[in-house]
Amino acid sequence: MDTVRTIADLRDRVAAWRTGGHRVGLVPTMGGLHEGHLSLVRLARERADRVVATLFVNPGQFAPNEDFDAYPRDEAADKSMFADAGAGLLFAPEIAEIYPDGHTTKVEVQGLSQILEGEFRPHFFIGVATVVSKLLIQAMADVAVFGEKDYQQLQVITRMARDLDIPTEIVGAPTVREADGLAMSSRNQYLSEAERAQAPALHATITGIAAAVAEGGDPDALCREGAAKLEAAGFRQVDYVTVRDAETLAPLEDAGRPGRVLAAAWLGKARLIDNVAV
Ligand code: PAF
Repeated sequence: MDTVRTIADLRDRVAAWRTGGHRVGLVPTMGGLHEGHLSLVRLARERADRVVATLFVNPGQFAPNEDFDAYPRDEAADKSMFADAGAGLLFAPEIAEIYPDGHTTKVEVQGLSQILEGEFRPHFFIGVATVVSKLLIQAMADVAVFGEKDYQQLQVITRMARDLDIPTEIVGAPTVREADGLAMSSRNQYLSEAERAQAPALHATITGIAAAVAEGGDPDALCREGAAKLEAAGFRQVDYVTVRDAETLAPLEDAGRPGRVLAAAWLGKARLIDNVAV
């Protein structure tokens, strides 16, 4: 599998695939690969003949006090995992290729970006929507795959692509979990051994809430109890536990609409997020 570092080379390679009649898939990542990322590549391979995997730790989506410098980086290991999973090209640009001097444009999906994660990380979705819109326009793939683990991010990207008339189909892939239910995440490596043992309480709690809501339980009361359970399980701060409309992420008022339980909580240095369907 080749690596390209410039947008011009990426476009040449994608154009050659298109001339050959191939359907093209895109899997944007920031590296630190685990089985969850590889499932995205495999799903993209099912939907397309050729897959571009991208590797770019996007400074635009980290606040100054966040883990941009500490974010795991091992291009050689990531490349070999991408290749094994079926990617055909790695796009690994330098920061200056994506944000050259004088780059001032930002993309913001209003409303959806300001709630939940957006309340705690106000910079985050502007950074994500900006870089993902650029990657989609650079690659012009037929389909792009993102994990449901970052459920709000998937909704923001879907809305952004629709609003900007980007013709790439946005596809969500199911969350991949460890045997004990913990959602796979590059940030799980920040957990100590003791915290790793406590971490599955997040998935267990939101799964319990989803089941109780489906049986007619009161979402607000269940979420309050859920937050208390997480604190009792060792989480040092619960940012939110909430039941939302699965598409708009507004509070779920119509029990007939698909719902989603979403949560974010801190365990030591790691901020864990997770979500499940109601
Ligand atoms: O989910 C991620 O890894 C990142 O937010 C993404 C979509 C690659 C954009 O930098």
